[in-house]
Amino acid sequence: MDINLVDKDVYARSGAPYDQFRWLRANAPVYLHEGEPERGWPPFWAVTRHADVAHVSRRSDLFSSSRRLALFDEMPEEQRELQRLMMLNQDPPEHTRRRSLVNRGFTPRMIGALEQHIRDICHQLLDEVTGLPAVDFVRDIAAPLPLYVICELLGAPVEDRDKIFNWSNQMIGADDPEYSSGPSDSQAAAAEVYAYANALAAERRERPREDIATKLLLPDVTGETLDENEFDLFVLLLVVAGNETTRNAASGGMLAFFEHPEQWRRLVADRALAAPAADEIVRWVSPVNLFRRTATADTVIGGQEVKENDKIVVFYGSANRDEEVFADPDVFDIGRTPNPQIGFGGGGAHFCLGNHLARMELRVLFEVLAERLPGLAQAGPARRLRSNFINGIKELPVTLA
Ligand code: HEM
Repeated sequence: MDINLVDKDVYARSGAPYDQFRWLRANAPVYLHEGEPERGWPPFWAVTRHADVAHVSRRSDLFSSSRRLALFDEMPEEQRELQRLMMLNQDPPEHTRRRSLVNRGFTPRMIGALEQHIRDICHQLLDEVTGLPAVDFVRDIAAPLPLYVICELLGAPVEDRDKIFNWSNQMIGADDPEYSSGPSDSQAAAAEVYAYANALAAERRERPREDIATKLLLPDVTGETLDENEFDLFVLLLVVAGNETTRNAASGGMLAFFEHPEQWRRLVADRALAAPAADEIVRWVSPVNLFRRTATADTVIGGQEVKENDKIVVFYGSANRDEEVFADPDVFDIGRTPNPQIGFGGGGAHFCLGNHLARMELRVLFEVLAERLPGLAQAGPARRLRSNFINGIKELPVTLA
């Protein structure tokens, strides 16, 4: 089998390469993948089994996020410097300190308090599309929901939503000509978010509010606090991590329901299934396709020796279809329990900070959709994002009746 797990055109055409993933899990679960020197990508070990993805994720002592950054694409030095300060690209103990400071804003209690608000946003979005002749599920529902929630967390005013939305698209869409003319657009957008966060922090220090942004700027019980730079970078991370992921889980989930109408009928008949459906959607879609680590010592992954400084890329989309872990992995089953999906990461230090929030957004959205729009139907083909990092959908035409 020809293996190329990073060809962005494949993802744009038909989504993640599940046939290659299946072959690799069976034949070469830790596979030395070619790099692309002209784009600055060195060769890497592609890790495709659930157990191995979990092992790499949990052992940050052996698999570093900081040595060569967790994001996969190489980037210019100035941008790399900024990235290096981001939590996602750090190892314990630097990571531990920052993570515990931001955890304060994402406790189940803080997130639980947002449920009614999230439900109101879902109803508002559906009110706005009712009666429209043409509805794009991505533009009109899946994208605004997490965007409005992030703006709420930050206390950003309603009139700033569009610009935050565009920055987020530009940062994640560096490889998609529709969103960006290349990495320089993506860097420019990151610089604008950074400046925006800086102004927001100054404003909140002067006039504290009841939002998570204010909470994160205050010292914790030990007197530790995020410095200005750390706060700005955290906002930058939130804008991408909180938006694109949930948006694509929602639209990929909707597409999965269109492709499996019996599952939609199940949900409409029993809306309590929206909770397990949220996990099945994250398993099925795997909105984040991969992250990278760098080996800190000679070690072994799934029986394969790797050397210090080798690059390791974990493929969540493959781990989430691992037949060793999931019965009938290629069946979309919203009642699947247990569901040890690994779409929020394989555990360990970097496990998704927003996992409770994302699950809640998905559960509430699909509860409200099943209640109000049981006749929702696909009205045209889905168009996919050209990216090997985010499994994204750019457009999904629907009819509501
Ligand atoms: C980290 C997936 C939603 C904030 C991650 C990681 C994955 C992921 C795979 C890396 C885990 C690792 O390296 O071990 C997802 C998916 C989401 C989602 C699939 C939606 C379905 C969110 C939301 C937020 C968020 C809503 C915030 C509001 C973060 C942050 C990190 C992270 C801040 C970095 C954590 C760290 O480095 O310690 N997410 N995420 N995510 N996610 Fe999410």
